[in-house]
Amino acid sequence: MELIKNTITVGLERPVKLLHVTDTHIGLADDRDDERKHALAGRFSSHDREKLFQEQVDYARQHCDLLVHTGDLIDFVSHANVDWARRALQNDIIFFIAGNHEYSQYVGEAWEDNAYRMNSYMQMGYGLGVPMFFNARVVGGVNIVGIDNSYYLFEDWHLWRLKREAEKGLPIILAFHDPLFEQSLYDYHMSLPGSDCTYLVGCDEEHLLPYSEFRAVQQRPDAPTLRMIDYITHEPQIKAILTGHLHFNFESSLTPSLPQYVTGGGYDGYARELTIL
Ligand SMILES: [Fe+2]
Repeated sequence: MELIKNTITVGLERPVKLLHVTDTHIGLADDRDDERKHALAGRFSSHDREKLFQEQVDYARQHCDLLVHTGDLIDFVSHANVDWARRALQNDIIFFIAGNHEYSQYVGEAWEDNAYRMNSYMQMGYGLGVPMFFNARVVGGVNIVGIDNSYYLFEDWHLWRLKREAEKGLPIILAFHDPLFEQSLYDYHMSLPGSDCTYLVGCDEEHLLPYSEFRAVQQRPDAPTLRMIDYITHEPQIKAILTGHLHFNFESSLTPSLPQYVTGGGYDGYARELTIL
């Protein structure tokens, strides 16, 4: 396991430790799944991914208060993946919020929007047996709040629910799959070889200019998304953001008091231990 360690101070009586894991991309298929699912599963040595995930869960159980998983636990919807994820997520040490691949049927075969998400969610049998769109749990005086923003959008009900969580008066750690736009993260991602977009939420028109039309339409924020970002960057109870999706590690700050952590792929063994003091 490639462990990265960070500490933030919010004024707790006793420290809380989170293990942030994201983008595990388990790829299983069995005789209930069709040939295309088997072909997708063949892209991976899935055994290693399951083993790495188990190591991360074991580490969290021994050293942390909670494992926060920010999505893409599975790579695509298959009978075998859904069974595996439903079992894995029954473990109470894990706090989960969905990523885009949780709903992915064949990875990139269709335009992914709310209808696509709901088709997969219902096909799975009301998802993976835990909250997938919005999730919140208080641990050691810290409120962990997960929101599914995996299609680069927030919805007004997300903001309404987040405000209800803020009313609890506790420090909040936000967890979601897609990172929010931040200039240094944008610049870094665009500088990578072959990059033609950054997969960030909340890019303005100027920053969408280098994108293809497909990527610009896919990642352009709407009004509820901008309202949410405005709230997140002005609510002092929100102390940090944990994200994934990009499969590399990056740390920067949205405001002087709001760090955003992007953690690399769990399938590469990356995990981030965040100590909250
Ligand atoms: Fe993703």
